[in-house]
Amino acid sequence: DWTMGAFREESIRKIRAQVGDKRVLCGLSGGVDSAVAAVLIHEAIGDQLTCVFVDHGLMRLGEAEQVVSLFRNTYNIPLVHVDASELFLKELDGVSDPEKKRKTIGKLFIDVFEAEAKKIGGADFLAQGTLYPDVIESVSFTGGPSVTIKSHHNVGGLPERMNMKLVEPLRELFKDEVRALGRELGLPESFVGRHPFPGPGLAIRCPGEITPEKLEILRQADAIYLEEIRAAGLYDVIWQAFAVLLPVRTVGVMGDGRTYDHVLALRAVTSIDGMTADFYPFQMDFLGRAATRIINEVRGINRVVYDVTSKPPGTIEWE
Ligand code: XMP
Repeated sequence: DWTMGAFREESIRKIRAQVGDKRVLCGLSGGVDSAVAAVLIHEAIGDQLTCVFVDHGLMRLGEAEQVVSLFRNTYNIPLVHVDASELFLKELDGVSDPEKKRKTIGKLFIDVFEAEAKKIGGADFLAQGTLYPDVIESVSFTGGPSVTIKSHHNVGGLPERMNMKLVEPLRELFKDEVRALGRELGLPESFVGRHPFPGPGLAIRCPGEITPEKLEILRQADAIYLEEIRAAGLYDVIWQAFAVLLPVRTVGVMGDGRTYDHVLALRAVTSIDGMTADFYPFQMDFLGRAATRIINEVRGINRVVYDVTSKPPGTIEWE
């Protein structure tokens, strides 16, 4: 891609000019944006960059391992992997309000990141995978003047506290452009084409209180749902698809027994930039197949429903 090739060269030049011979830290979230930012910056300044992956234990099945392996083995980018899952779960214990979940996770994330940064001697710059829609949506929201719909968490607050300057090479890009840049940089298609995943992770896909048991049920169900979507060849036409474990139990029957288990909601939307979205019109046989597999294979779920709400009036995530 000619345009992306030029953007890449120009960005590398700008990053070098901004950073000089100083050190840069980059927080990896496991998502496409921070990964593309990290790879681009690494190309510009090599091992002046250190990545820090704060693993909050709220990732999907196998995801943390994939991130670590991509950076350490494929790219040889210095990476600090902090497994802070116990700490996060402890702090989230008993928290059910969505905004409180985001704030708890955001604050802890900063604490852990800061502690790790100190351990490795700090840095002058902090790299972030901020995109253009992030810049707009944190200022206002299409639904009305300056209403905070959700306090999207990234590492906001960190730069001031640690006295760091920001490196944000993706600030002018939309998601599809970041993907094109990722391809240009040689990131594997399986990574670049990934659906967006929120910073607070599965915590906001588990309405109500979070427990390790619920997270495990959700991880398994979500993995099956996505496997079926890939098998049906639908992954790339969908902007985002995921499961939500509801804090509701319903009665079911299995064999000759009564069950009383969780309800799982499936969500899939199409979108250009996440600001508005339409629910995906699956064929009923697809939904039936996914539901049957989930109920048969995941202990703790006995009913599956599909969310047919678009954005607005719904948001993409349930919390
Ligand atoms: P909503 O649910 O507001 O989401 O329609 C729009 C897009 O943003 C993602 N999202 C988040 N991303 N931290 C993030 O980094 C958050 O707290 C957060 N909440 C929502 C959501 O997955 C969708 O892509």
